[in-house]
Amino acid sequence: QPILLANYTVPSYLVLKTDLTFDLHDDQTRVTALLTLQRNPQAVTDVDSLVLHGSELELESIALDDRVLTAAEYQVDGESLTLTGLPSQLTLRIVTRIKPHLNTSLEGLYQSRGLYCTQCEAEGFRKITYYPDRPDVMSEFTTRITADRQRYPVLLSNGNLVEQGELDGGRHFAVWHDPFKKPAYLFALVAGDLSFIENHFVTRSGRDVTLRIYVEAKDLDKCDHAMDSLKNSMHWDEEVYGREYDLDIFMIVAVDDFNMGAMENKGLNIFNTSCVLAKPETTTDVGFQRVEAVVAHEYFHNWSGNRVTCRDWFQLSLKEGFTVYRDAEFSADMGSRTVKRIEDVALLRTLQFAEDGGPMAHAVRPASYIEISNFYTLTIYEKGAELVRMLATLLGPEKFREGSDLYFDRHDGQAVTTDDFVQAMADVSGRDLGQFKRWYSQAGTPRIEVSDHYDEDALEYSLTFRQSCPPTPENTNKQPFHIPVKTGLLGTAGDLPLRLKDHPVDTETSDNTSIVLELTEAEQTFVFQQVHEKPVPSVLRGFSAPVKLHYSWQREDLITLMSRDSDGFNRWEASQQLALRVLHDLMQEASLATVSAATEEAIAALIDALQSVVQDETLDPAMVAYMLTLPTEAYISELATVIDVDAIHQARQYLQGRIAHALKSAFVSIYQRYDHQQAYRADARGIADRSLKNTALHYLSLLDDESWIETCYEQYRAASNMTDAMAALTRLVNTDNPLAATLAENALDNFYQRWQQEPLVVNQWFSVQAGCNLPDTLAQVKKLQKHPAFDSRNPNKIRALIGVFCNNNAVNFHRLDEQQQGQGYRFLADEIIRLNKQNPQIAARLLTPLTKWRKYDETRQQLMKAELQRILQEELSRDVYEVVSKSLAEA
Ligand code: ARG
Ligand code: ZN
Repeated sequence: QPILLANYTVPSYLVLKTDLTFDLHDDQTRVTALLTLQRNPQAVTDVDSLVLHGSELELESIALDDRVLTAAEYQVDGESLTLTGLPSQLTLRIVTRIKPHLNTSLEGLYQSRGLYCTQCEAEGFRKITYYPDRPDVMSEFTTRITADRQRYPVLLSNGNLVEQGELDGGRHFAVWHDPFKKPAYLFALVAGDLSFIENHFVTRSGRDVTLRIYVEAKDLDKCDHAMDSLKNSMHWDEEVYGREYDLDIFMIVAVDDFNMGAMENKGLNIFNTSCVLAKPETTTDVGFQRVEAVVAHEYFHNWSGNRVTCRDWFQLSLKEGFTVYRDAEFSADMGSRTVKRIEDVALLRTLQFAEDGGPMAHAVRPASYIEISNFYTLTIYEKGAELVRMLATLLGPEKFREGSDLYFDRHDGQAVTTDDFVQAMADVSGRDLGQFKRWYSQAGTPRIEVSDHYDEDALEYSLTFRQSCPPTPENTNKQPFHIPVKTGLLGTAGDLPLRLKDHPVDTETSDNTSIVLELTEAEQTFVFQQVHEKPVPSVLRGFSAPVKLHYSWQREDLITLMSRDSDGFNRWEASQQLALRVLHDLMQEASLATVSAATEEAIAALIDALQSVVQDETLDPAMVAYMLTLPTEAYISELATVIDVDAIHQARQYLQGRIAHALKSAFVSIYQRYDHQQAYRADARGIADRSLKNTALHYLSLLDDESWIETCYEQYRAASNMTDAMAALTRLVNTDNPLAATLAENALDNFYQRWQQEPLVVNQWFSVQAGCNLPDTLAQVKKLQKHPAFDSRNPNKIRALIGVFCNNNAVNFHRLDEQQQGQGYRFLADEIIRLNKQNPQIAARLLTPLTKWRKYDETRQQLMKAELQRILQEELSRDVYEVVSKSLAEA
């Protein structure tokens, strides 16, 4: 029963006005919807029927122009209610009853710790009332909420507050009006006992906007970072995109039970507490950065998503890809641009590439889906952002901004498509982006083979690129992509000036030492002239396209790039390539007890190169930390044809140990040089310094020297911030040594005692234990599921314990010991079967590690497949069914 893009038709009726009344009572909520409808002049045929969506609703009555309809006058089936023979103008008054207190799916109207809140994207509004729940139906909403005054003093919805007052029986009401037309997925309602912090922002054109962050009273001390991030975002969007806020109030509400990170409901963003609350004692640096990024992301949606929205859910990346690109650029401007790029590319190449190579691979604009909730993916978000980044690279900053202005201008108040977005970029630049659009319709990660040739007589250097793209489930034959490859050439004294034969240098998109080569054909050669020495090519600078690049660099070339490429991203990339080679050599060794001379030589070269990195004082400490960090097991696995879980883990552990020994004195001096008394600051510098210091501690903890275990314990005890505490605790928990075990147990107890009142901190406590690489972790995870602090309904808890174990602990999840044969898989399948009914979205998301079964050895494949088949026996939600059935489908 897939939904197809090809079947899109415009809505038959428009909803001019939507007036909602919510009467919140303990046993039920009564929803009255008064809809003012008009036949859509754009409708292809003169239809007189209307389909309303509705799910799990109790229909009390439905009246057409004030006349109550009998059951014979409409058809309800499955998730829809159909009316026929309608006039061209009409009103509908629909009364439904729902049960938010029993809603465990966290979709529609539900309760979280006594608070009423909503999540309507993508199709949750239909769990609130019958409605044309599709994003191209945009309406002006007025919302009246009535509730008990004592328990629900705060009543919020979208837009501006227009009225509030007292009612009989200890109840009160509030009325909100949103003047901007919006689809139902942007509707929100909150009712509860919340406190807030308030601030103001005056827009460029002089609108004084009230900013409020609503949280439980106990969390008021953790809102400042989110508020700062919000103000910075508002300012940045004015400066960089010319976009201003448009209502008198902007509200953020934090809720503890939330399926995703946050939601951009017009004027009333609802956030997972994990993406709003932050203070140094309870939140790591990664947590601080996440709050900043998510606050910005949701705020930026006010234009890229709300003012201009999606025509249908196939266009999801129109708003998500663009908004991720916007928030990434914002974070780059707030902190370190190169570091942000490294982090984003690492995520993309590890998880999105894996998705693109697996059974759930789909295009950035998919052509079909069974359940749209399954398409809030790394492909839609992160790869979608890469497509926008490529457009920005191809057009250059000025034209890109013009294109963005035109897009917002032209489509304000409309529901549009990714084609419309690209068209705006084409119109301002005069460029033909027809081929570029293949990025939206063809799934899979393109592969580029690069070869080069230096002609020392002609002083010409040529680079040849061959592109291809492996088949993906719905897409076997791929046409060549339009790929911007930012390139430079390194000579002995630095970047060489570039003179490209037959190609006028486009001064808008390139300086003299970096040029954007545009690949459009399966094979293409670019010739550089007046090249006086054989250069080292620096290709795909800044990771200018989401591709897998292959070039056989000499080891020396990588060392050159690593030490002095002008592109920071490629310096890091060279360090990773160099390390990957050594790791692969190690994985070929029969035993790590004695390694071959060739491998020894490779290790020595890597260590030498890392030594220079540590000594390079021009490098940002965050860069040093990233260059010192070996590629993750997940990334090595993504690159592998068949994933050898244990060999990867052992090779990486071994190499880390070798680096620790060889660079010991450097690590000691980094650790000692660090000012352990310095005040915590969540800025780029502070984060960078902590990251380098904790990287050094990590290596030192690998030495066979218990004093460093004691140092970890000491750092844990003395830490004034969660970053340092967690870094130290993680080392203790993962160190296979009796002293470490004792100290870890001690620290874990102490940690829980200290933080048991803070759910977000308890989540970190679950995670550090679930991520432990030592044996017996599965038993520990199962034990923790019974811990009083664990809540099997709370998505954050599920992710912290079960998600971390299955996704970030490969050696244990895939363990094949005699007693533990496939136990990890069985454990996950049991959880999915349990969650399938309770919260289908979370269940489907948790499935990811099992869907990758084809990449493992025969034994693991059989065990994983058997669990998928066992799940398939159940009565499944659409969400879980789609993922399981696609995973098992013939390749
Ligand atoms: N639009 C939200 C964001 O990216 C995500 C909401 C997705 N919710 C869902 N249930 N799939 O900011
Ligand atoms: Zn978003």
